[in-house]
Amino acid sequence: MEENLLHIKNDVVSLVMDAESLTELNQIYIEFLGRSGILTKELKKLKSVPEEKRPEVGKLANEIKNTIETVISDKKKSLKINKHAERVEKLDITKPGIKPAKGSLHLVTQAIKEISQVFESIGFTRVRYPEVEWDWYAFEALNFPEDHPARDDWETFFIDEKPSEKYGPMILTPHTSSGQVREMINVAKSTHKGQSPSIRMLNLAKCYRRQSDVSHTEMFHQFEGLVVDENITIGHLKGVLEYFVKSFFGSERTSRIRPYQFQFTEPSFEVDISCGICKGKGCKLCKEGWLELGGAGMVHPNVLKAGGIDPEKYTGFAFGWGVERVLMMKEGMNLPDLRLIYSNRIEFLKQF
Ligand code: DAH
Repeated sequence: MEENLLHIKNDVVSLVMDAESLTELNQIYIEFLGRSGILTKELKKLKSVPEEKRPEVGKLANEIKNTIETVISDKKKSLKINKHAERVEKLDITKPGIKPAKGSLHLVTQAIKEISQVFESIGFTRVRYPEVEWDWYAFEALNFPEDHPARDDWETFFIDEKPSEKYGPMILTPHTSSGQVREMINVAKSTHKGQSPSIRMLNLAKCYRRQSDVSHTEMFHQFEGLVVDENITIGHLKGVLEYFVKSFFGSERTSRIRPYQFQFTEPSFEVDISCGICKGKGCKLCKEGWLELGGAGMVHPNVLKAGGIDPEKYTGFAFGWGVERVLMMKEGMNLPDLRLIYSNRIEFLKQF
């Protein structure tokens, strides 16, 4: 038996030395050490060795088994190292590298930047006013009488806080129009006596309303334009609207204004943009050639008064539109659910 064992060892060692792959080594292992392997079978014979010789033969058998296991595992290691070396040798540094994943700005952030640039290019200054606001700035100062039913349209979130004696309940601002009177007060503070309060404001900010369905999200963005100066007319409003529409949507698009009603403007308008698909002729998407963009109007004298501006001397215009809405219109996007924009679904966001 001892001789057999030594033979087996020599056989294995030479086979292992010649082996060139891990598969080959695994096969050698199974052939000799597997359940019905050559060595395994030999070891079973140990039982029939005379008792007095058994410890000695057993010890040898063990040593041989260990040696075989060691040579196989050493060879495995060296094959792996060689393989790696080979790969390094084959490294082709002229190949293009692996591109790291690239992020991009959220589509709403992109739209905010673009809208701001359009208005900044004609002298508007971007401002932001509090998202947590007083009722007075959002409604009262904008000529909404208390309990006026129009307040219901704004579906406001109320903050659980003691109302202010002067400004009423604390709310989440439901529209950027609340920045109108804040801006007037701010500008009046920094205007010297006798100087005209010249305002060209773009208040682009988050707004909140209690509404969540396929075409509304509770948090959304609006951009509010406000221009106040001497002799400001509807002509100026119309010019600014047209400039925005052409810059943002494309030079072939145009705008129109229709009479409407808002508490804080008089006269008030709804602004439409000519349909990009039928170019104003009328199609399935727009019906009559026009798509609704948002509200606008000439600032109501009561609003100017609330902002400390003399309505006999100064006039102004304002407009307020949804960022998400103009974005949808620009992209020609027909989202089945507007909430997708804020869902953090990477597959959706990657498209922009
Ligand atoms: N604040 C209005 C809203 O959220 C939009 C609006 C309409 C703003 C007319 C204006 C305006 O400045 O003149 O629905």
